[in-house]
Amino acid sequence: MNKEAYAVITGASSGIGKQFAGLLAAKGYPLVLIARREQILSRLADFLYAKYNVKCKVIRADLSQEAEVERCFEQLKDLDIEIFINNAGLGEAGSFAETPLDKELFMVDVNVRCLHMFTKRMVQYFRERGEGYLLNVGSSAGLLPAGPYMAGYYACKAYVTSLTRAIAWELKEEGSSVYVGCLCPGPVDTEFNKVANVKFALKGISAKRCVAYAYRQMMKKQTVIVPTLRMKLAVWAPRLIPEKRTIAITAGQQKRKISQ
Ligand SMILES: NC(=O)c1ccc[n+]([C@@H]2O[C@H](COP(=O)([O-])OP(=O)(O)OC[C@H]3O[C@@H](n4cnc5c(N)ncnc54)[C@H](OP(=O)(O)O)[C@@H]3O)[C@@H](O)[C@H]2O)c1
Repeated sequence: MNKEAYAVITGASSGIGKQFAGLLAAKGYPLVLIARREQILSRLADFLYAKYNVKCKVIRADLSQEAEVERCFEQLKDLDIEIFINNAGLGEAGSFAETPLDKELFMVDVNVRCLHMFTKRMVQYFRERGEGYLLNVGSSAGLLPAGPYMAGYYACKAYVTSLTRAIAWELKEEGSSVYVGCLCPGPVDTEFNKVANVKFALKGISAKRCVAYAYRQMMKKQTVIVPTLRMKLAVWAPRLIPEKRTIAITAGQQKRKISQ
């Protein structure tokens, strides 16, 4: 691995992204941190520089806007990048007939459109470079057939897993060393719940544990990464039961999240 090369993290101001920033700085990578809350990013950059002596660039961007995603890419284009953590995202919960369309479209723009744009750009960039690691942050939600009462979020994350698996397959067929994978965690204790206005039905794991596992599996080039045995079972068990039953169980979990 080339420690002179950068690691880029979207959604680095909080939760899983912030934890990735800490872990990759500890491994010696100079960083590019992207999110909307610039002050938080700048404080994090100062902290990581003081602790690990790594350069940290900050880019303030609202990734729901196509032009902002392009602007980020413009600012990255002269850097040598080895790792890209495509992590920025949010959730929205409630009955589909009642959830606000504008918030859902904002979510689709960040969780799908922006992630797709960065994926396209970085796969092209890494192919040209000969190697690199692109980790798309999906969710265990994306490995289940549907998520009533969080319908749009589950659909976004299904897009992420499907897209990632397909690209990983294409890269493998062409014998490429480029890694593209998908992190699919269950509940993780971050700001996610506050933003989505939900409470977990199941106990969350720490972002530290999630990210440490994700990094190890990324280095082993595992395409779909599901932290914890409990979540592995939760996404595997639906193979044994009728799809309708899985959707009913998921609906029950989601209802508990919004009614607590
Ligand atoms: N927490 C969980 O239980 C869980 C489970 C499975 C998957 N995930 C996924 O993990 C990823 C990270 O979520 P998290 O749990 O760490 O939540 P979080 O603590 O709320 O962090 C979300 C990050 O995304 C950034 N972000 C959101 N909207 C953005 C926008 N329009 N432009 C730029 N950045 C934006 C936020 O930064 P700013 O607000 O500063 O812009 C923040 O840094 C998401 O993709 C989420 O779907 C989370």
